Amino acid sequence: MCGIIGYIGNKPANEIIFEGLTRLEYRGYDSAGIAVLDDGKIHVKKDIGKLHQLKDLLLTNFGSTSSQGIGHTRWATHGRPSGFNAHPHGDSRGTLMVAHNGIIENYMKLKNRLVQAGFIFSSQTDSEVLAHLIAYHYHNNLEEAVLAALKEVEGAYAIAVIHRNHPDRLVCARKESPLILGLSKDENFIASDVTAILQHTRNVIYLDNYEMATVKREGVEVYDFSGSRIEKKIKQVDWNPIAAEKGGFPHFMLKEIFEQPQVIRNTIGGRTSEEEGKIYLTELGLSGPDIFKTQRIVIIGCGTAFYAGCVGKYLIEKLVRIPVECDLASEFRYRDPLVDSNTLVVAISQSGETADTLAAVREARKKGAKVLGVVNAKESSLTRDVDGLVYIHAGPEIGVASTKAYIAMLTALTLLALLLGKIRGVLTPEFVTDQIRELKRLPQEIEKILAEPDQIKALAKKFMNAKNFLFLGRGINFPTAMEGALKLKEISYIHAEAYAAGEMKHGPIALIDKDMPVFVVATNSATYEKLISNIQEVNARSGTVIALCSEGDKEIYDHAHQMITVPNVSEILSPIINVIPLQLYAYYVADLKGLNVDQPRNLAKSVTVE
Ligand code: G6P
Repeated sequence: MCGIIGYIGNKPANEIIFEGLTRLEYRGYDSAGIAVLDDGKIHVKKDIGKLHQLKDLLLTNFGSTSSQGIGHTRWATHGRPSGFNAHPHGDSRGTLMVAHNGIIENYMKLKNRLVQAGFIFSSQTDSEVLAHLIAYHYHNNLEEAVLAALKEVEGAYAIAVIHRNHPDRLVCARKESPLILGLSKDENFIASDVTAILQHTRNVIYLDNYEMATVKREGVEVYDFSGSRIEKKIKQVDWNPIAAEKGGFPHFMLKEIFEQPQVIRNTIGGRTSEEEGKIYLTELGLSGPDIFKTQRIVIIGCGTAFYAGCVGKYLIEKLVRIPVECDLASEFRYRDPLVDSNTLVVAISQSGETADTLAAVREARKKGAKVLGVVNAKESSLTRDVDGLVYIHAGPEIGVASTKAYIAMLTALTLLALLLGKIRGVLTPEFVTDQIRELKRLPQEIEKILAEPDQIKALAKKFMNAKNFLFLGRGINFPTAMEGALKLKEISYIHAEAYAAGEMKHGPIALIDKDMPVFVVATNSATYEKLISNIQEVNARSGTVIALCSEGDKEIYDHAHQMITVPNVSEILSPIINVIPLQLYAYYVADLKGLNVDQPRNLAKSVTVE
């Protein structure tokens, strides 16, 4: 998703901004641009392409060493990717430049009015309207012009602005799209994501909705939208910038897959007492009575977070004995959902910035439900819009295809289910103790899988040219099949479908022939024998079965063509271990095909628009 960075200080702005933009690459983008202010003149360079292709344009031949400017990576929504549509956008008189993340919903109405007033547009974007609108309202005071423009705008935005009459400042504002200020000595930053500025400073101010800031070399001032000054807390970011580097791996995705044992340790860390069979989730924000009165739980999320939620449904229904529904946030928000004060809504998100998830949360709260966020990114928008939190502690995830955040979500949901089950008297301390022990064993079991990736790589090589793939699973591992198929399609562009194995005979069986490999998640479970029958159905149609099975399973050898074995763990924890080979499989296929693993085409890390 689009990224913004702004700089004002004493170093060449285009260099700092270019470097910051490279750190935002992981969000996904199709074009990029930088605008700086030099002696009352604006210099702007922008084009379609990746930053390494735009290096000469934005860095070597930039033609200005100005120390004040803004930059942007764009992920197209309104208007195809092109140089004209890339940000920053200026007004027709060349007085100012704006970088914008989000969507201006009433842009057509505003554009028509501005065109009639004589403003000339040069792009198809909704964002350009902001540049002309601010110019329209400008009467020597930039902050007032920005506020007046934003009062007319409907939609979501984070914006950064430079104006040729104001060589001492950048102005920025936000509503529903994240924006932070980075503070340092004699230089200050604006960024849509903390990773863009971590190299320079760890002191940040998180802007809230309807806040605007003036960013000067010597300091920053924050205002609300009525123009009144606000005091904001400066927070210290504790992320290690090294954690956002590749650490010797060829891709972030592979590095993140290999980090998963440590991620589980971090998610569990300090939250359990094995002897007493207790779980501590200190930011839960739910009282005992809240937990007792809960009659229904609704889990919402998008993409991988949604699949984590689907595992959560099985976990919570089994361990807490409360009915659980899992819904896509984009569906939930528009279906007038039946939630009330006896419903607990659990919103899952790695970034905490996904527009549909945030809107679904607002809808749930409006209807009186308590909302619990299961989130990775600290201080993200979601964390500020919920009644309680379970941080998943996965650390920064850079690869667009989510891996370690998924594992951390599953681990956190297991802790949550154990805690709720214990409080509601469904689970005994002994049972909880056993599960904690089992959870703590998972990292070393996963390390065994990661120690032998070659077998999975060989399989990837064998099937890398298949055009279609089917993934089957049952029960708590049906979501594992869905996540496995998602990983494969996201990064290798192979069409992959997931089905509940028992449902295969009602349609997808028609697709099966010798060219259709079928991945079956067939580890030890209550429905193992049923899965064997499903595998036989595939075999009878000449399909090729790749079975994911538990160590020591001899029976499967009679049925599957290829096997991947994983260590034996209890069925409720098996999704945490079973997904690892599927992530590796997708990774190797994409890598063998020579594709851009970390930034797959058309995808964004964090989708902050609807
Ligand atoms: C995008 C990403 C996915 C992610 C989904 C939800 O589509 O490409 O990897 O699962 O958004 O993101 P969230 O940050 O809410 O977990």
